[in-house]
Amino acid sequence: MIALDLDLTEPLVHARADMAEFWRIQRRHRPIFWQPGTAAASGFWVVCGYHAAAGIYRDHVRFTSQRGNVLLTLLAGGDSAAGDMLAVTDPPRHTVLRRLLTPALSRKALCALANPIRDRTRRLLSDRVGTGPFDFAREVASRILIYTICDLLGIAERDHELLVTLTKQALGSEDAAQPRIDAMAARQEILLCLLELVQEQRRQPAGGLVSALIAETFEGAPLTDDQIVTNCYSMILGGDETSRLILTNTAQAFVADPSLWDAFGEVTDLPTAVEEILRCFAPTMHFGRVARTDVELPGADIAAGDIVTLWNISANRDESRFPSPDTVRFDRKPNPHLSFGFGPHHCVGAHLARLEIGIVLDELRGVTRVIRPAGTPRPLYSNFLHGYATLPIELA
Ligand code: HEM
Repeated sequence: MIALDLDLTEPLVHARADMAEFWRIQRRHRPIFWQPGTAAASGFWVVCGYHAAAGIYRDHVRFTSQRGNVLLTLLAGGDSAAGDMLAVTDPPRHTVLRRLLTPALSRKALCALANPIRDRTRRLLSDRVGTGPFDFAREVASRILIYTICDLLGIAERDHELLVTLTKQALGSEDAAQPRIDAMAARQEILLCLLELVQEQRRQPAGGLVSALIAETFEGAPLTDDQIVTNCYSMILGGDETSRLILTNTAQAFVADPSLWDAFGEVTDLPTAVEEILRCFAPTMHFGRVARTDVELPGADIAAGDIVTLWNISANRDESRFPSPDTVRFDRKPNPHLSFGFGPHHCVGAHLARLEIGIVLDELRGVTRVIRPAGTPRPLYSNFLHGYATLPIELA
């Protein structure tokens, strides 16, 4: 019998095998509940039902993102980038800032990236067919995605590998024993790299998002170095780990269940399949808000100032929204998953993520039909991301 009072701030809790059962029971009996605080951290609301979560995502009037949007920052009392970084800025400032970033990430602008992503992926994968075990997470997934973000920002190829390493450390999720200080140092190093990039491109524009932001104005003035760095940083953090992990999680699911791999091989409507992959394997377990006013919801009297966390990992399996939610159906339509959030903060990188997932998995099934486990994957330790840090496999 699973305990219903698990501490959701504890990373090890999320690696438990019975978490799906935990969420199923919570959805049935209390789709919104209060997790009590401890001496070290305040309590917070846990929203695990689909409809309540979608409603709160949409409601930027009663729920603010400016005091953080993940447990780490919400419990720390706020995010130092609030009001400057897209994800932790409320409308109307958010709307203006978002307009500066969306052109580079529009479906049309991304068309130019499709071929380079496909070429890189094909090279990486075909080199590994029939050559023995390798780590899919580190040798494939981590490379393709960070390289694309770097291209988007205009970061030189020589710095791509450094950024792969730093982004992994920055979220501190790979190793249960990694000290917090290492994650902070990695974050500082990324910010410094980006500051140098901005200063370099102020002298000599090189194209890409950084040059575009330098040329823009925000509320009547040019963007400051800090504003540009902050938003480029959010692209790296928002874009790299999420997309890398969804690929790793999906490949792990294929390895664990050969019938799923066979079914994916038969898929003809790839965009529809990608939506189901997003629903089932997205690594971001929750996002969050702070209530600006008292809000009454069924079963919850939320007080102004309360932290409210929205558990996509549960909402995406809500039986009242998705028929047979625990079955992966590559032809599921409609598929209104919350993996990219909902409302004003809906993931600005969603088109890029869809493009990358579609291309990488399509190339994977194109290079081989034989994918085998080659060791035990190492799970992540995080209360925000779930999935695998390593995935030893073999392609034959
Ligand atoms: C926002 C998930 C890929 C950059 C979000 C949000 C979610 C999300 C749920 C909303 C957060 C909130 O409401 O507080 C994902 C997932 C991805 C992915 C699951 C991959 C599978 C990307 C990529 C980029 C990116 C590729 C960058 C190129 C961002 C940014 C925001 C955001 C900047 C803030 C948007 C705003 O506040 O208006 N993402 N994301 N994400 N994402 Fe993504």
